[in-house]
Amino acid sequence: MRISVIGTGYLGATHAAGMAELGFEVVGVDTDAAKIRSLARGEVPFFEPGLPGLLRTHVESGRLRFTTDLAEAAAFADIHFVCVGTPQGANGAANLDYLHAVIDDLVPALTRNCLIVGKSTVPVGTAAALRERIAVLTPDGITVDLAWNPEFLREGHGVHDTLHPNRLVFGTTSPGAEWALREVYAASIAEGSPVVVTNLPTAELVKVSANAFLATKISFINAMAELCELTGGDVTLLADALGHDDRIGRKFLGAGLGYGGGCLPKDVRALIARADELGSGRSVDFLHGVDAVNVRRRDRVVDETLSLLRRSGSRVNGRVAVLGAAFKPLSDDVRDSPALDVARRLHDAGAHVTVYDPQANVSARSVAPELTYAANVNAALRKADVVLHLTEWAEFADLDPTEVRRVARGSVIIDARNALDPGRWLAAGWDFRALGRVVEAPAVVSSAPARRTGTSSVSSA
Ligand code: UDX
Repeated sequence: MRISVIGTGYLGATHAAGMAELGFEVVGVDTDAAKIRSLARGEVPFFEPGLPGLLRTHVESGRLRFTTDLAEAAAFADIHFVCVGTPQGANGAANLDYLHAVIDDLVPALTRNCLIVGKSTVPVGTAAALRERIAVLTPDGITVDLAWNPEFLREGHGVHDTLHPNRLVFGTTSPGAEWALREVYAASIAEGSPVVVTNLPTAELVKVSANAFLATKISFINAMAELCELTGGDVTLLADALGHDDRIGRKFLGAGLGYGGGCLPKDVRALIARADELGSGRSVDFLHGVDAVNVRRRDRVVDETLSLLRRSGSRVNGRVAVLGAAFKPLSDDVRDSPALDVARRLHDAGAHVTVYDPQANVSARSVAPELTYAANVNAALRKADVVLHLTEWAEFADLDPTEVRRVARGSVIIDARNALDPGRWLAAGWDFRALGRVVEAPAVVSSAPARRTGTSSVSSA
């Protein structure tokens, strides 16, 4: 079976390499000639652990190649996976321009029967409309089927999630499409990945509702963090206690700066917009609250930093070291990154912001050139009045707080990801602030055990 993957961003490039790894002959297609040149050389134009090796192996073996010519893919493949972006458009709705362009260019160029499989995240109802469009555009004598197979890969774990998906969802309208997809994913199915075969709207909804659910979970714990901040509670221990209930689970109860990236924020807003279009806005009314809590987390860090700068000599133009720019660790993606948003807002308010991210300096600079970027963490920390820990890279958890005190000017750090060890920072004399919990320096009483209000078990949590 020969496969084309159309759209070679994070999702498409990983999927193309994954399909080659599964033994298929694959062609990857994109309109971005620079990206295609880079992939054809076996170079991944973004950071994704494990992908460069996989890509190089299969480009060198000849099983995986890349082109900008959609007609070449049309003549080559039995299955076309469509992985183009559906970015946030007007009023939060997904912009389907790239998807429509692929169908409009690909289908008239087809010279053989094939299955088109949508992987892009789309508003429910899109596939039904595409089926009609495909029927009009299909050349005489050719049969074209359409299926939807949403993708759940997490950036930073893309290779693993592609080769070992935790579930497979096939939205189909024909047994032939189901069997073709079963053949593509035979290795994962044999390994035990559950398969859900359903209709097109359900398959479309699975993806957006999964992401909306994850966003809701994160905003739920962040809402509890707001209450903890008012009452002296500790949101990390609250999350532990909630998570022990296996109906709830501990995953995605990480309170802090909130969610970002190319999927969760966009999918929440797109689901709201689609429900409104369907005249059923109230079905997802609660998602407005989910979005609002998420936005407030960023406001909270900006406000606290500005008040700390004012306190330290009434200077909003003090120096802020921002540790992290990517929307999460193990990624260089800065789309809707909470870290970069906070950094930009502090800069706009007059602070001198220096950003360091182990992988995302280049992508951050391309969208926020007004900020200063440091080549290493020490350069970012130099003479900082306030240190902000905004993306939880392992490199930051490994910092020596005593060393950092020597480099920085101030001694206040806000751990906006609840990922640092407060005990180590407190012991080095830091005013350590976290989100959703109060962390205080141990009382200076030689005979009494150290005590931290609201965080007595932090170090063992
Ligand atoms: C998400 C989905 O997890 C994935 O299944 C889908 O295919 C694409 O969207 P991704 O955007 O790569 O994946 O990142 P994810 O790991 O889900 O994290 C999203 C955001 O939530 C990040 O900004 C992360 O920092 C934040 N997050 C995550 C929290 O704030 N708390 C948590 O407990 C977990």
